[in-house]
Amino acid sequence: MSAIFTCCLGLVNAGDHIVASRSIFGATVQLFNTILSRFGVETTYVDPTDPAAWAAATRNGTKLFYVETPSNPTAEIADIAALKAIASARGALLIVDNCFCTPALQRPIEHGADLVIHSATKFLDGQGRVMGGAVLGKADLMRERIMPVLRTAGPSLSPFNAWVLLKGLETLSLRMDKQSANALVLARWLEAHPRVARVLYPGLESHPQAELVGRQQSAGGAVVSFELVDDGSDLRACAWRVVDGCRMISITANLGDTRSTITHPATTTHGRVGVEARAAAGIGDGMLRVAVGLESVEDLCRDLAHGLG
Ligand SMILES: Cc1ncc(COP(=O)(O)O)c(C=O)c1O
Repeated sequence: MSAIFTCCLGLVNAGDHIVASRSIFGATVQLFNTILSRFGVETTYVDPTDPAAWAAATRNGTKLFYVETPSNPTAEIADIAALKAIASARGALLIVDNCFCTPALQRPIEHGADLVIHSATKFLDGQGRVMGGAVLGKADLMRERIMPVLRTAGPSLSPFNAWVLLKGLETLSLRMDKQSANALVLARWLEAHPRVARVLYPGLESHPQAELVGRQQSAGGAVVSFELVDDGSDLRACAWRVVDGCRMISITANLGDTRSTITHPATTTHGRVGVEARAAAGIGDGMLRVAVGLESVEDLCRDLAHGLG
């Protein structure tokens, strides 16, 4: 979150406007809505998959386009090159939160992004040991807009955390390849499960933007979300039963660990964004998110089966 805040402090002034995807991490929404708004910076939320909506939301004073792709937890894919073309034509910068793919699977700058953000807390570390973040981008932007904030406001990593993250980076591509492969097997198993209505995973052939995924990403990533079948019973209770049934998969809102984790987005990562914003982002009570690790995928399926039945 410090990485995101640093970018905002470096790039927007009072009275400026941000166009953001409506499918972004809950704390980022809170940052825009409750903190930046106090400094006169307004944010308009749009569908990440619809470039025309971004163009329509742009107005005088729009300085930033902000997007996550794939989005958390709904796995929607934004066309980075298309958004960059619109942002550039209107004099705005495009920021991509690349948390879910990491540079091992997606390089947003090659598709036109001006700045890329990572929650290093996730896959860059890979073992849930430290918190950290990163901002990457074109040299002039980094030097003139980001570094002055970093130097004077102080949102910097401790040297120990930086060392841990560098160790994590040594195995990043191996982990991402294997965790993506595991995630694909799990996603296919879930897709065939009678209690699962829909699986949201960029690596599946059934993903509504499979062609764009193929252009932007080298694999689907390690995060699989799914929705339970709505059979008229209390969906939240059903989802919590699946979570509580897990013996091996850890219950936590964090992701990106070599050990698999599960969370219920509507009551954790997106619990504070409000019912309407959650509905607009497509996050229902029956949705669960699994961040797939390096365990045997058969064991993961067996663990989810406890609560799924
Ligand atoms: C997509 C995304 N961006 C940013 C963050 C914030 O990361 P951190 O917890 O390292 O501040 C998260 C955390 O879950 C996230 O999922």
